Amino acid sequence: MNQRIMDHIEYLEKAESTQDIVYGMARHGAQEWTAVCTFAQTAGRGRMGRKWETPHGANIALSFLLRPDCETRFAPLYGLMASVATVLALEHYCPESDIKVKWPNDVIVDGRKIAGILPQAHLNGLQLDFVVIGLGLNVNSVEADFPPELRDKVTSVRCLTGADNDPAEIAESFLERMINLYDQSKVDGFDPVIGLWSRKWAHRGCVISRSGIEGTAEGIDELGALMVRIPDGSLVKLSGGETQFQA
Ligand code: BTN
Repeated sequence: MNQRIMDHIEYLEKAESTQDIVYGMARHGAQEWTAVCTFAQTAGRGRMGRKWETPHGANIALSFLLRPDCETRFAPLYGLMASVATVLALEHYCPESDIKVKWPNDVIVDGRKIAGILPQAHLNGLQLDFVVIGLGLNVNSVEADFPPELRDKVTSVRCLTGADNDPAEIAESFLERMINLYDQSKVDGFDPVIGLWSRKWAHRGCVISRSGIEGTAEGIDELGALMVRIPDGSLVKLSGGETQFQA
């Protein structure tokens, strides 16, 4: 395993929110790649203030710290990078499945969510001080583990393959891919990540609507904003937030 993972990952038997733990560590000067992982998270946080469920022992709740030396406007790209790293890791465990990304950071299979990513940036003026990335990834959950209202919207490695897997092995495999993409971005910039993300994108050409804007999803720009062609022919850029996609 990559030395940077070995050195900095801590496994907790149980945690309220790995995100809050790593964010707190970051505020106290923790090193880049500090990572906390549990398979039993009791107060997980999702995007847009939602809850994130991690049934005891079954799935991954992982947060880790990045300290890229860059401007704040690049922060969303680290969330996209994490979704690409998740796809690459999952392709190994679910070789028969068509694993895709949904803008900005969800990982989906046949429209069902298998992983969610929560990037949380801490700013220092126009510079990014740090970013904590949270990954919730469904590994061994079966349908009955999910709340009834989510059962037709989510999936897991187990649901896709019928096999149980070691969540720690998948978490480390994800981190290894994340480290590779991160190192590559230091040399080549973000084009490779944007290219990979775009190839795995489920909604190119789909009609999307958000906050009264409706149009056709064309791609993402160099900062990860979603580019939407609206009926008058102009291009509108959307950043973060909740967006409805019609197939
Ligand atoms: C989403 O809403 O799709 C993002 C979910 C992110 C959940 C992860 S689990 C590990 C980390 N700890 C948290 O409390 N949240 C994130």
